[in-house]
Amino acid sequence: MKRNIIITGGAGFIGSHVVRLFVNKYPDYHIFNVDKLTYAGNLANLKDIEDKPNYTFVKADICDFDTIFDLMQRQHIDGIIHLAAESHVDRSIKDPFTFAQTNVMGTLSLLQAAKLVWDGNYEGKRFYHISTDEVYGALEITDPEGIVPPFSTKASSGKHHLAYGKTFFTEDLKYQPHSPYSAAKASSDHFVRAFHDTYGLPTIVTNCSNNYGPYQFPEKLIPLFINNIRHRKPLPVYGKGENVRDWLYVVDHARAIDTIFHNGKIAETYNIGGFNEWKNIDIIKVVIATVDRLLGRPEGADLDLITYVTDRAGHDMRYAIDSTKLQRELGWEPSLQFEEGIELTVKWYLDNQEWMDNVTSGDYQKYYEQMYANR
Ligand code: NAD
Ligand code: TYD
Repeated sequence: MKRNIIITGGAGFIGSHVVRLFVNKYPDYHIFNVDKLTYAGNLANLKDIEDKPNYTFVKADICDFDTIFDLMQRQHIDGIIHLAAESHVDRSIKDPFTFAQTNVMGTLSLLQAAKLVWDGNYEGKRFYHISTDEVYGALEITDPEGIVPPFSTKASSGKHHLAYGKTFFTEDLKYQPHSPYSAAKASSDHFVRAFHDTYGLPTIVTNCSNNYGPYQFPEKLIPLFINNIRHRKPLPVYGKGENVRDWLYVVDHARAIDTIFHNGKIAETYNIGGFNEWKNIDIIKVVIATVDRLLGRPEGADLDLITYVTDRAGHDMRYAIDSTKLQRELGWEPSLQFEEGIELTVKWYLDNQEWMDNVTSGDYQKYYEQMYANR
């Protein structure tokens, strides 16, 4: 079946994996990657597919309603997979306006364009909005040593398989965002639902846990630390390093997006995650051990790079996704064990130093130095 699909934010971390998957798996679909190319967008992430006949890059801001409307009309777009966003919590603390602009107004601009172009003819149409588990707020750590969790997936089937509390994020939980990033994402989720409830727009929302893998901009924990360890630079651990995150390999997120885009029910929300909780300090130790082993350095050689710094303002304590609904209803599950995923990830960054050098040169380097100057 032929389809014309816009993927927004396709030059970013998760978006590039989604674009790659769709372009390769569905030769009958035409994929329009709409991306503004902010500091986080990088066409080098898509070098391997840029010449495919079913792929077109469109440099545009999602807030530019006229351009989006025109593209949708001209190209007979019947599906939107919306990932473009400002995505880094630390930046949102410094500059909340940009987050409201892109994440809220940009989403609204896409929704309005879809509503006007599709004009009530919703047969076969789909507006799929990618969101985050951070909209649910933070869970408490009630079991600091960790307990055997009630669920298990391939992602969490390694040696470390712990939960740090008995409650999890389920789809029916009230939204309680804390950071400007998650507040802006929550607001965009509300707009998406409102467009379904008010105009009948065929929407789907998914909320995913922390992703890791190749092509992630190195301001996020895992790629930042891999690069710092390689260059023997300090590893800034916020607070005591006790915060808990639930990690999913990015390709498994892209696979979930594929499943949900095709088989998910309109107006539903699905949580995506692998029941794979880690304290920051534990994951940092795994990353150090993996980098050291792959670089042939002695075991534990770089543990002394760990540097405890002032905590992030409003730092959410624990995220833990319950993805039972997605697994039961649509049969998705992670394909990789966490230990395999982290090995692939570290290896990818070490093998792609040129990519890393390109994205960390210039403006980003200045931003990073400023960011940590007063911590
Ligand atoms: P990212 O920051 O790596 O990429 C964002 C992309 O959006 C970049 O290519 C950027 O150029 C583009 N973009 C930003 N503003 C734009 C605008 N105004 N117009 C057009 N393009 C614009 O982000 P990511 O980590 O790949 O996250 C993608 C989506 O997934 C986001 O919506 C994020 O909230 C969500 N999400 C991320 C995670 C995670 O762990 N990274 C987890 C759950 C959900
Ligand atoms: P991050 O990758 O920014 O993702 P998020 O804030 O969306 O979860 O951070 C993951 C965790 O790592 C989070 O608890 C904050 C912590 N962290 C550090 O301790 N030091 C750092 O330099 C960074 C970037 C994050």
